[in-house]
Amino acid sequence: MEKLISLCKRRGFIFQGSEIYGGLAGTYDYGPLGSLLKNNIKDSWLKKFVHGREDTYLLDAAILMNGKVWQATGHVDHFSDPLVECKECKHRFRADQIQDTKKCPDCNGDLGDVRQFNMMLSTKVGAVDDTASTTYLRPETAQGIFVNFKNVLDSMSPKLPFGIAQIGKAFRNEITPRDFIFRLREMEQMEIEYFVDPDRWNEEFEYWKDEMMEWMEEIGLNMKNVYPTEIGEGDRAHYSSRTIDFEFDFPFGRKELYGLAYRSDYDLSKHTSSSGQKLEYTYPEGAKIVPHVIEPSFGLDRTILAVLLSAYREDVLKDSEEVRTYLALSPAVAPVICAVSPLLKNKPELVDKAREVHGLIKKEFGRVAWDDNGNIGKRYRRQDEIGTPWCVVVDFDSLEDDTVTIRSRDTGMQERMKVDEVIRFIKDNM
Ligand code: GAP
Repeated sequence: MEKLISLCKRRGFIFQGSEIYGGLAGTYDYGPLGSLLKNNIKDSWLKKFVHGREDTYLLDAAILMNGKVWQATGHVDHFSDPLVECKECKHRFRADQIQDTKKCPDCNGDLGDVRQFNMMLSTKVGAVDDTASTTYLRPETAQGIFVNFKNVLDSMSPKLPFGIAQIGKAFRNEITPRDFIFRLREMEQMEIEYFVDPDRWNEEFEYWKDEMMEWMEEIGLNMKNVYPTEIGEGDRAHYSSRTIDFEFDFPFGRKELYGLAYRSDYDLSKHTSSSGQKLEYTYPEGAKIVPHVIEPSFGLDRTILAVLLSAYREDVLKDSEEVRTYLALSPAVAPVICAVSPLLKNKPELVDKAREVHGLIKKEFGRVAWDDNGNIGKRYRRQDEIGTPWCVVVDFDSLEDDTVTIRSRDTGMQERMKVDEVIRFIKDNM
């Protein structure tokens, strides 16, 4: 974990939030490469769960919602974690995450009583403090979907079953943010609320379990570390009638990566009774129902952590003691798909040709880097460390026969091919 965190900072993936002011616990900033990785993961998710389907609609709802939303859904009353505070050092802990709820794990002092701590971050909306109304930064993207159920129904006329998908920020005032980007106060979620006929929820639940696993494999997660785990009634969120957590073996233990919940008609019914607006579906033959909901919920930051951990490799280079660190990222999510270099940067004829090749490949894939820093060995090491699957080098032979070398990150093997074969080669190996 320490090695990965260091790589993330050194290579521009992830930085501590507000770092120059000493940081802000539970916040991280994605750097130039981290932002690209994040966007590629979002694209892959959209490709599978939105563009790849005919029954799912994308939404981008506001983060700030009317405070009544959170009253209606039970978040104001129930979205809490058990908190204990040490009477001596004043450190706070989640009571369900420590062995002994009487003694402080940090100073062995006495812990106070366990009390429920609401995890929503409140804020005021309005210019004047005393007339402003209190609301919350959304703790889940899901509610933006439920309150727009009728709008999507009226504007898109979907047939049941159908889904509404959303990617966006969510906020939780976690008692103990920790483990790098695992437990954050500001995070991003990718969620689908899939509306189904109440009689079919079980089949749909099993279907979504498989879909989620399929996508995890597509983005390169080490599936040997993924454990679908049934969550018992007492441990489920207040809105869920069945939950499977996809747990992942992180270096700090086996923890929740994603959740799949059967939310029944909980949310639509709560919003109907609170808002007075009927949130129901009318079958073509006229019967009306409140659909039930299957919710596949993916934390984007946890995805990034699991992707990076699954990709992290170290090997010893042949004929040397040097350890090579590389990220075996899937080409679908790697920030840079290919780097292009001239063998020597002080030979204008090589640079011109390499620029031409770079332009060609960049036009096709976008995520193509120009790298003429240091010698070729150093460039390969640097690209390996950021997970670039292929490096193309233009040398003196290129000027004669329009060929280049293309080196594969995972094997270190180089092949020579015509410039106009490179794009096909990358596409075939993606
Ligand atoms: N709408 C359902 C929902 O929000 P959840 O299990 O509380 O369910 C869904 O959260 C996913 O969001 C989790 O499986 C996890 O991937 C991510 N997540 C939750 N809390 C998080 C936090 N504090 N930091 C980072 N990711 C978090």
